[in-house]
Amino acid sequence: MIHFSPRSADLSGPQGDDPRPVKLSASSMSSPSAMTSALPIPRDPAPDATLALFREGYDFLSKRADRFGNVFRTRILMRDVICMRGPRAAELFYGTEGLTRVKALPPGMQWFSADPRTVHLLEGAAHRQRKALFIRMLMSPGRAEALSALFRAELTRSIPRWQERDRIVLLDEVNLALARAGWEWCGLPPLQDDAEAAALATDLAGVIESGGIPGLRKWQARLRRQRLENRLCTIVEDHCAGHLPAAPGTPLAELCHHRDGQARMSPAIAAAELLNILRPTVAVGRYIVFAALALLQEPAWAQLFGGGNDDLTEDFAEEVRRITPYFPMVGAVTTQPIDWDGLSLPKGQWLLLDLCGTALDPDCFPDPTRFRPERMLSWKQADPGFIPQGAGDVARTHRCPGEQITLELMKTAITFLCRDIAWTLPDQNLKVDRRRMPAQPASGLILADVRPAHREGGTIGHLAGSGPRQGVGVALTNRPEALQTE
Ligand code: HEM
Repeated sequence: MIHFSPRSADLSGPQGDDPRPVKLSASSMSSPSAMTSALPIPRDPAPDATLALFREGYDFLSKRADRFGNVFRTRILMRDVICMRGPRAAELFYGTEGLTRVKALPPGMQWFSADPRTVHLLEGAAHRQRKALFIRMLMSPGRAEALSALFRAELTRSIPRWQERDRIVLLDEVNLALARAGWEWCGLPPLQDDAEAAALATDLAGVIESGGIPGLRKWQARLRRQRLENRLCTIVEDHCAGHLPAAPGTPLAELCHHRDGQARMSPAIAAAELLNILRPTVAVGRYIVFAALALLQEPAWAQLFGGGNDDLTEDFAEEVRRITPYFPMVGAVTTQPIDWDGLSLPKGQWLLLDLCGTALDPDCFPDPTRFRPERMLSWKQADPGFIPQGAGDVARTHRCPGEQITLELMKTAITFLCRDIAWTLPDQNLKVDRRRMPAQPASGLILADVRPAHREGGTIGHLAGSGPRQGVGVALTNRPEALQTE
């Protein structure tokens, strides 16, 4: 039997089909409140909770965790699942072998790549090898900053176009700028024209949109994904055949020259991995819109950033990541028996971890619904309660390798919104429906009369004035409500 201490993260335990149980010791766990080791696990009495999941959205897991405790059983599509919330559960998901991500998310909730040959679904040595490539592509010094510089240039380039229109939808515009910047940063051949860029952004945003939606739109998203992968596959083949250059260090060049063991990665897998970079890059657009919403609700912070103070933008962005309802959960299935915190999880047990609920757990964050950048959260610190993009050691677990990029893009957008443009805020519905996944302010955040900022106090001078704030569909004076919702 393997003794496993989540804190010391000894990951040298068994892999693959090794049937030995992995023992996870609770003794070194941090939050005394988080998990109960009492048996049996409380069960949601509902015979099946599938409809409730789609009806309740982001609050589905948390509501039940509040009622039954941080570990409980329910059934989704009649399949037994143990749901978990809190730092200790995060350590299980991001601290041990013996789990697979394959077939581990509820139907209709495919947030990540479903291709078993891609990093999201690999495990063990194959995963670590592929992950090392992602860390090199995404986290090498200067890479995040280079992407941010391209993103800033795209935003700046958009201002004259925005000036020609009465109003813009911020979510659509940042998605477009992120798609263009991400495409170039990946080393892909220049987009022909604005129409091609717009089609790319629409396809990528459509794939993201479909993350939490069951049914017909799923098929539409599948077609979009297929179209993107086909196009990327052709580009990879052209590059590998020497017909298309790509700057060294760009994801296109790295993926084409990467070897999985002896063999070169197939163009189809390389294309799917390129999409695993492009798609989440555009996904950051939602965080940016939530950051803009928070700036509207927190004019004092906006004033600070508008006045040229950059010291606290990261704290602000991190608090936006904590409070934003985004990827609601991750799933896993045990590939071998695991003894964990007094519970014996058999092989084949389905597990769900509540990412958003953990961020709002009062045991992790006092007064959790208050927006407080003063918490000074950081992706660089190993805080197992702050897990919007996963937890643990990025190289050895499924933790997101795009956190630094996410933060850099958010900071760029925050300073751009506070300093580079001025706008007014027309009447609109900014409510955030927590049943809709992925969530967003209903209007996508419409800005009117966008123009370059003249430095008379920056954009915030406009926001703080009486005009722009009139008739907004949500109270701007108090923070979490708009982020919380209906
Ligand atoms: C909107 C911001 C983002 C969110 C909310 C997010 C969320 C997540 C989460 C929760 C995971 C862990 C999945 C799991 O445990 O199975 C993950 C993994 C991953 N993310 Fe992100 N992510 C974001 C941005 C990015 C960006 C910007 C990139 C790349 C440019 C990226 C690339 C990846 C990759 C490649 C993985 C797979 C890692 C692995 O399986 O080892 N993500 N992301």
